[in-house]
Amino acid sequence: MKKKLLSLLLAAACVFSMAACGSGSDSAGDSGNAAQTSEADDTEDAEEAEASGEGGMLIMATNAEFPPYEYHEGDEIVGIDAEIAAAIAEELGMELKIEDMAFDSIITAVSGGKADMGLAGMTVNPDREKNVNFSDTYATAAQVIIVKEGSETAGPDDLTGKKIGVQLGTTGDIYAEDIEDAEIERYNKGMEAVQALLQDKIDAVVIDGEPAKVYVAENEGLKVLDEPLTEEEYAIAIAKDNDELLEKVNTALTSLKDSGKLDEIVAKYISADE
Ligand code: ARG
Repeated sequence: MKKKLLSLLLAAACVFSMAACGSGSDSAGDSGNAAQTSEADDTEDAEEAEASGEGGMLIMATNAEFPPYEYHEGDEIVGIDAEIAAAIAEELGMELKIEDMAFDSIITAVSGGKADMGLAGMTVNPDREKNVNFSDTYATAAQVIIVKEGSETAGPDDLTGKKIGVQLGTTGDIYAEDIEDAEIERYNKGMEAVQALLQDKIDAVVIDGEPAKVYVAENEGLKVLDEPLTEEEYAIAIAKDNDELLEKVNTALTSLKDSGKLDEIVAKYISADE
């Protein structure tokens, strides 16, 4: 009886105070599981910072399973995108926070306002442009094929009828869908596709060129085929209604390009002679 009364009272309290029940508009900064603040700008008042604007929090959605663009190093998320985001945050006088999530959740996180921008080696494509805006591009990329050394698959034409591993929701996934008679195996992480290839569960992996190089360097008996499948460009995804941030990010990107800082970041992760 007492318990009932208590829960009634609690329910009443909830009616009068939405916030107490946690059902009010969720501040975007509170939603993170694998969140991390940038090393570049590590001030204590991060938690109290406003959602946007100078001195506020800039939340980046990513999928940190994509070296050298974003990956885990100990407890940290590092890589080209993480550093570009930190540099942009610095230009804007904001505090960067990185939210790690499934790749195919990033667009929704951005368009729904849970994150301010998506940086994830994300290729500009027309379908995505229906849901988010893209910044100016900051890198060119390509889908490539990884096979085992000695594989009979020598080029794109040989993929017909093969078992192909991709990361779910990526442009590799989209490309593979059009390969005749191919059977597509979708993985949450690119590395899981590579593992399946190593175990002969699949015949090839279709993935972006730079992570492909990393995976081949880290695992014996694999190679990247010479002929790329696509030409793509990476950009930063921003909510359709956030033109203000889009403009600021583009201005920051331009300044990073002009100052040579962008090249510097890329050179730290990708050696030119590769
Ligand atoms: N460039 C590809 C795409 O846009 C793959 C990106 C995967 N990125 C990641 N962080 N897992 O679909």
